[in-house]
Amino acid sequence: MRIRKAIIPIAGKGTRFLPATKEIAKEIIPIINVPMIHYIVQEACEAGIEQVIFVTASGKFAVEDYFDRNQELEAFLERNNKMKELELIRSIGSMVNVTSVRQKEQLGLGHAVLCAKSMIGHEAFAVLLGDDIVINKKPAIQQLMDVSLSQGGASVIGVMEVPRSETNKYGIVRGDIINEKTLKMTGMVEKPKPEDAPTNLATPGRYILTPEIFDILENIPRGAGNEYQLTDAINVLCQNRNVFAYQFEGERYDTGNVHGYLDATIDFALKDPQTRDMFIASLKKRLTKNGITL
Ligand code: UTP
Repeated sequence: MRIRKAIIPIAGKGTRFLPATKEIAKEIIPIINVPMIHYIVQEACEAGIEQVIFVTASGKFAVEDYFDRNQELEAFLERNNKMKELELIRSIGSMVNVTSVRQKEQLGLGHAVLCAKSMIGHEAFAVLLGDDIVINKKPAIQQLMDVSLSQGGASVIGVMEVPRSETNKYGIVRGDIINEKTLKMTGMVEKPKPEDAPTNLATPGRYILTPEIFDILENIPRGAGNEYQLTDAINVLCQNRNVFAYQFEGERYDTGNVHGYLDATIDFALKDPQTRDMFIASLKKRLTKNGITL
C-alpha cells in the first residue's frame, strides 16, 4: 500500500523559458542557487519516496547528473577544507535512488507518464511535475498519499483554488463534495471558460495514481494540442474507479513560466535569513535608482 516510486516528467520543451531552455533543461535553472528540480525531489524524499523516475529527453542529462555523486568536486572541496560545501554536495548525491527513461518524442504529459510504465510495475505511484514547486511543512505529495491510504489506496489528484476568471488556464475537476477539502471526482475538464467550469479547483501537478492508468493511457486518442493528455486518462479512470481530488496545503509556484519563477525567487530570497536583509536593501536601492516609488 505504501507509495514507493515517483515519476517526474521533465521531457517538455520548455518554450516559455526560451532561450535558456534551448540548451539546458528548465528544471535545472536555479532559484537563487538551488535548481528547481531540487525542491521537487526533496518533496518526494520527505514523503518517503524511495525511487525517482525522471522521464527525460535529449539534452536533459544535467538533471540526472545533479543527483549523482561528483567525486572530483568532492575531492576538490575536501582538499580545500570546504567541509560545509562538501557535506551539501554529498547529501545531494545520496538524496534518492534515481533512474530515468527517455521520452523520444514530446507527445504530451500523458505519454510521458506512460513511458515510465515498465519502471513502475503493478503498484500505485506518485507523479510530481518538474516545474511546479510546492512549499509546505508536510509535503503536498505526502498529504495526497495520506488521503489515498484513507480511501483504500485510491487515486488522488492534488487541487488548488484558482480565481474563476482563470479556469481557462488549467485542468478543472468535477465531483461530489465529501468534506471541506475532498471531492469524489466524476471527471475533469481541460481549460474550461469561467462560465462553463464545474468548480474553481485546478490541478497543478501532484498526483497519486493507481496502475490502471497505464492501460487507459495506452488506449486514449490524442487530445488538446494534439497531445496525449493525462487529464483525458484521469477522466476515464474516474468512470471505472474511485478517484479523489484533495485541496492540499502549501504555497505553489508555477516555475514553468517567468512570472511564477520571479514570485518564487522573491519569496525564497525573503524567507532565507542569509539573503533576506541583503535582498530588501538591494531592492530598495534598485527601485530608487530606476526612479520607482511604491
Ligand atoms: P508543460 O505544459 O509545462 O510543457 O509540461 P513544457 O514543455 O515543460 O513547457 P512549455 O509549455 O513549452 O513552456 C508540464 C510538465 O510535463 C512535462 C514537462 O517537462 C513539464 O514538467 N512534459 C510535457 C513531458 O515530460 N513530456 C511532454 O511531452 C510534455
